[in-house]
Amino acid sequence: MTEFDMPQPNIARIYDYLLGGKDNYASDRQVGDRIEQALPAVHLGVRQQRAVLRRVVRYLVGEAGLRQLVDIGSGLPTADNVHQIAQQLEPSTRVVYVDNDPVVLAHARALLADSKETVVAVGDLRDPAAILAEPTLREHIDFEQPVGLLLCGILHYVLDNEEPLRIVRQLIDALPSGSYVFIHHLITPDDSADEGTIAAEAALRQGVGRGQFRTLPEVAAFLEGLDLVEPGVVTVTEWRPDEDTPSLVDNPVLRLAAVGVARKP
Ligand SMILES: C[S@@+](CC[C@H](N)C(=O)[O-])C[C@H]1O[C@@H](n2cnc3c(N)ncnc32)[C@H](O)[C@@H]1O
Repeated sequence: MTEFDMPQPNIARIYDYLLGGKDNYASDRQVGDRIEQALPAVHLGVRQQRAVLRRVVRYLVGEAGLRQLVDIGSGLPTADNVHQIAQQLEPSTRVVYVDNDPVVLAHARALLADSKETVVAVGDLRDPAAILAEPTLREHIDFEQPVGLLLCGILHYVLDNEEPLRIVRQLIDALPSGSYVFIHHLITPDDSADEGTIAAEAALRQGVGRGQFRTLPEVAAFLEGLDLVEPGVVTVTEWRPDEDTPSLVDNPVLRLAAVGVARKP
């Protein structure tokens, strides 16, 4: 492939590159390298994004007892995918992966060829009504039973003028009582809109055409009206850390993402 027919850089493949994966092209690696120049510790940030996702899935299936998960913006398959974590704990857990990227969907389908509890659906978060009406999802998810909605590393690709609050509200409204929502979102910490953060956001915007860091209170607003699971909306390392979770003090990059889990009353 020459640089003239190289595909446009793409969010899922840039993320795969930053995670050390192989499903990416030179155009994705260029954007990844620019992000890394701005934010040298970005690799730790993306690994911890996967780590908190694992902890949350364990909580939702192992402690909250959920048996169905909808993961919107699921990304390219990597190590410890959501369905693997969930089904290790409870093999009957049904998982629907939703993404708007055909490459992601193709890889996910290949990985899941023999898993009948896990399916893949095409959907764009910016059109929540279409996601909720998607036939594969409707077939696989029982909306009379609690659902875990995962929005991990995706809402910062929905810009303010696309009304992310309305989108999240519309999805939550469709879930029955006892459902849970998980959000992981890149943030600009109050006291550190430093050059690295600003440059990383700019590299993301320039590379993939979109990207909007928000503040921790703005992330908390997505979960308003729900019962926050302890410890609330916090940085990634503060959400139920395990023995492998690195310290925030030693790794300031980890202040650039907020996470929260909440239960619909
Ligand atoms: C950074 S990856 C996150 C993957 C995974 N959720 C994680 O946290 O490890 C973001 C994913 O969101 C998908 N995505 C971005 N905007 C989307 C949208 N509007 N609708 C659906 N998927 C979207 C991308 O294709 C990509 O696969």
